[in-house]
Amino acid sequence: MESIKAGLLGFGTVGGGTYSVLRRNQEEIKRRAGRGIEVARIAVRTPAKAQAALSAIVTQEAGAETALAAGAGSLPLIDSDFDALVRDPAIDIVIETIGGTDRARELVLAAIAHGKHVVTANKALLAVHGMEIFQAAHSKGVMVAFEAAVAGGIPIIKALREGLTANRITWIAGIINGTTNFILSEMRDKGLDFATALADAQRLGYAEADPTFDVEGVDAAHKLTLMSAIAFGVPIQFDRAHIEGISKLDAIDIKYAEQLGYRIKLLGITRRSAKGIELRVHPTLVPSSMLIANVEGAMNAVAVNGDAVGMTLYYGKGAGAEPTASAVVADLVDVTRLHTADPEHRTPHLAFQPDQLSDLPVLPIDQITSAYYLRLRVADEPGVLAAIASLLADRGISVDALIQKESREGEGETDLIVLTHGTVEGNLRQALAKIEALSSVKSPVSLLRTENL
Ligand code: HSE
Repeated sequence: MESIKAGLLGFGTVGGGTYSVLRRNQEEIKRRAGRGIEVARIAVRTPAKAQAALSAIVTQEAGAETALAAGAGSLPLIDSDFDALVRDPAIDIVIETIGGTDRARELVLAAIAHGKHVVTANKALLAVHGMEIFQAAHSKGVMVAFEAAVAGGIPIIKALREGLTANRITWIAGIINGTTNFILSEMRDKGLDFATALADAQRLGYAEADPTFDVEGVDAAHKLTLMSAIAFGVPIQFDRAHIEGISKLDAIDIKYAEQLGYRIKLLGITRRSAKGIELRVHPTLVPSSMLIANVEGAMNAVAVNGDAVGMTLYYGKGAGAEPTASAVVADLVDVTRLHTADPEHRTPHLAFQPDQLSDLPVLPIDQITSAYYLRLRVADEPGVLAAIASLLADRGISVDALIQKESREGEGETDLIVLTHGTVEGNLRQALAKIEALSSVKSPVSLLRTENL
């Protein structure tokens, strides 16, 4: 059978990686998909640059002739006409790798309008415009596949949407941003502050020149929002996510957490209760004995709890050319296999049938339930501990562990670290307002959430 024809929007890290993996593994991909998958056309801003990158891939590829003979097809047309690509009648699948939300949205919607399936790695696009895009795709009977948008090479979308489909999923907790995990590992291992660890991440090519989306938790929230929708059958609601990054994390908290047997990770957490859905990204204390606490460097990991299966854990590279390409190409194979299937018999984009989405609300942060780590700067004098414990007890908040650091000679102040048992956040905030008003409490309380998963 003739190869299915794909068009690539963009030829950067993800686009180049996709092209390279497709060519290299064309023979096995064809055996799996039932027909070859050929990148027939590429649209980029600078065709000469893409041409050079493509030539380098083709030249470097061991056994290039074998791949061509196996159906890798002829070399693609490369130009800068994005609009022509998404309208090209010869193209069956548009692979969007340009990133961003505005132009990507226009092109993806245009591709859908012209009856193309879409494969995208763009989490920001889907977190913000996903409902519109999936609705358009549903109306047109085409697929929008996005495995690469969440946790790079880890097939977590497939796992949530298909592998765990028997389960009522109760929660997901993930390290879904490699840059911040690398920074946190550096801060803990080397005792660095945030700014120095970020500079290391940039020097080593992990962090972008503008690392805001990574370090402020936005990238993780994009991915979490998509997983939450698929896990619980709710609309994508990125604007309801609670997002805290790591830029304000104090190195001292990493040290104290370690002394208490915890590591601090930027976790994306989504949990379902009868009241609603928690959807939150923030630095989180996790017991050091847990597998997920030991995910270090730029690696990603996602833990999913289902009522039948219990806890499952998925680990791997969340970024990089070939790990991301692994997910893009898996989607291309899925789309190729299902291309001729009746649209009603394909897996729904968001795992649940589009008319079966639940209106369970996303809970505001003051209604979530968590345990907490509190660091208080207090006067080292009689009665301080008792006053704080009493204000917590007044709100029914139980202390799980507590350490008080020795005050330094002549300083008269010390750090008090309190771990609480689970409570509703609004309840804790009310207690903290009273605690911060005590004259013996010298600065605002540092608050972090603790998860025992
Ligand atoms: N910048 C992301 C990360 C990868 O550091 O994990 C792409 O989402």
